[in-house]
Amino acid sequence: MVVKLDSLMFYSMQVCHLESVVEIEQLVFSNPWTKRDFEFALKRDNAYCRVVFVGELLVGYVIGFFIKKEFHLADFSIHPNQQRQGLGRRTLEVLVGDLSTLAHVISLEVRMSNVAAIELYKQFAFQTMAIRKDYYTQPQEDALVMLKPLQGKLSDWVTEALAGLS
Ligand SMILES: CC(C)(COP(=O)(O)OP(=O)(O)OC[C@H]1O[C@@H](n2cnc3c(N)ncnc32)[C@H](O)[C@@H]1OP(=O)(O)O)[C@@H](O)C(=O)NCCC(=O)NCCS
Repeated sequence: MVVKLDSLMFYSMQVCHLESVVEIEQLVFSNPWTKRDFEFALKRDNAYCRVVFVGELLVGYVIGFFIKKEFHLADFSIHPNQQRQGLGRRTLEVLVGDLSTLAHVISLEVRMSNVAAIELYKQFAFQTMAIRKDYYTQPQEDALVMLKPLQGKLSDWVTEALAGLS
C-alpha cells in the first residue's frame, strides 16, 4: 500500500486500539511491551499516547511521558508494511508540533543497532548525550541516550533543570 502523507490521521490512543498496537509492537520489537504495559500508559495522566491511521488502518503509534518540562519518548513504531514512506518522519513532526508549548526537551533511549531510528532522530536534530551500558535485554545491548531541545539550546535546558533541583 502506498501511503499519501496528507491522508494520515492522528488520534488519542484508546483501549480499542490496543489489539492493533500490540500486533505492531510484537512485529517490530524483540522485547515488546505487553497489552498491560499499554493499558498502564493509557491510565497515566502524564502520558501522551497517539495512534496513526491511514483510512481505517492503524499504521503506527507514539507514546511518551511528561516529567515536568521533559518529554520522554517511550515507544514509537510504524507497521513494517508501511515503513520507509515518510510516516515515521511525519509522526515525529506532529509530535514535535504538539509538544512545542508543553515541553522544553525530548529525551529517549534507542538501541545502538537501530540504524533506522537513529538516522530518523538525527534528521530531527536529536543529539547523543550518553550511552547506557546493557540497557536492553533480549538481546542485551547498549542504549544511546538522545536529547532534542524544543526551545533554546540544550545547555539552557540543562541549566534550567539543575536550577530546579536546588
Ligand atoms: C524507526 C521507524 C519508526 C521509522 O519509521 P519509517 O516510517 O520507516 O521512517 P521514514 O520513512 O519516515 O524515514 C525517515 C528517515 O528515517 C531514516 N530511516 C528510516 N528507515 C531506515 C532504514 N531502514 N535504514 C536507514 N535509515 C532509515 C532515514 O533517514 C529516513 O529518511 P530518508 O527516507 O530521507 O532516507 C520504523 O523503522 C520503526 O517503526 N521501527 C521499529 C520500531 C522502532 O525501532 N522504533 C524506535 C524505537 S527508539
